[in-house]
Amino acid sequence: MRRKLAAGNWKMNGLMADLAQVDALMAAHPDPQVDLLLCPPATLIQSAASRAQPHPMMIGGQDCHSSQSGAHTGDISAGQLADAGARAVILGHSERRVDHAEDSETVRAKARAAHEAGLMTVICVGESLAQREALNTLDIIDGQLSSSVPDTATGENLVIAYEPIWAIGTGHVPGPDQIGEVHDFIRARLERRFGAGVGRSARLLYGGSVKPDNAAQIFQVSNVDGALVGGASLTAADFGPIIAAL
Ligand code: G3P
Repeated sequence: MRRKLAAGNWKMNGLMADLAQVDALMAAHPDPQVDLLLCPPATLIQSAASRAQPHPMMIGGQDCHSSQSGAHTGDISAGQLADAGARAVILGHSERRVDHAEDSETVRAKARAAHEAGLMTVICVGESLAQREALNTLDIIDGQLSSSVPDTATGENLVIAYEPIWAIGTGHVPGPDQIGEVHDFIRARLERRFGAGVGRSARLLYGGSVKPDNAAQIFQVSNVDGALVGGASLTAADFGPIIAAL
């Protein structure tokens, strides 16, 4: 059985004072029955990770470089994330694919580096509204998946987040059938490429406008093993009920 996973992506939000939300979350869930991952901005990783001890909540990064060190001003390596206490990293988020022109080959190289550093990777895939309306969703997902996931993936270090771009921060959530169709497709593709072991162990998250009032319905969909939550992960008051719905 795959363990459920609730992951929070703070994006470029959060100052030191906001780590009080992490404390509140841990206090509200002292012995969680699901895995928890919170990915604050890089400036907060070390503080969040040390505050989290000995609670099982994992702290993660939102990106890493494909090299482990070198002349890359402003970048952070996977090894540096791990050294700061991170246990996971989000890669290939659509905001990075757009803002930083990251293609799937770049995402794959980053994911390989992250796996080598012992990090779990949350690799994001998702279609735009135009792509969905053109009935290209599964083709887009197929291409992103096969190009972004490296051969270093295992059942433990691979998490895929399906985030339709049109659902991120918009309040528009796909219907259960639409989510289920994509998640079943991703599961089948992973099983075909990696075999049943890895393919059935990797966890699949849904992301895009997950809120306390829609989480339970989303979590009932087949092959949804949890959520990657943006805005609603910023406060314990919103993220707590989503965790509880898993
Ligand atoms: O990575 C999470 C994200 O893109 C979804 O954001 O704010 O719609 O939950 P949000």
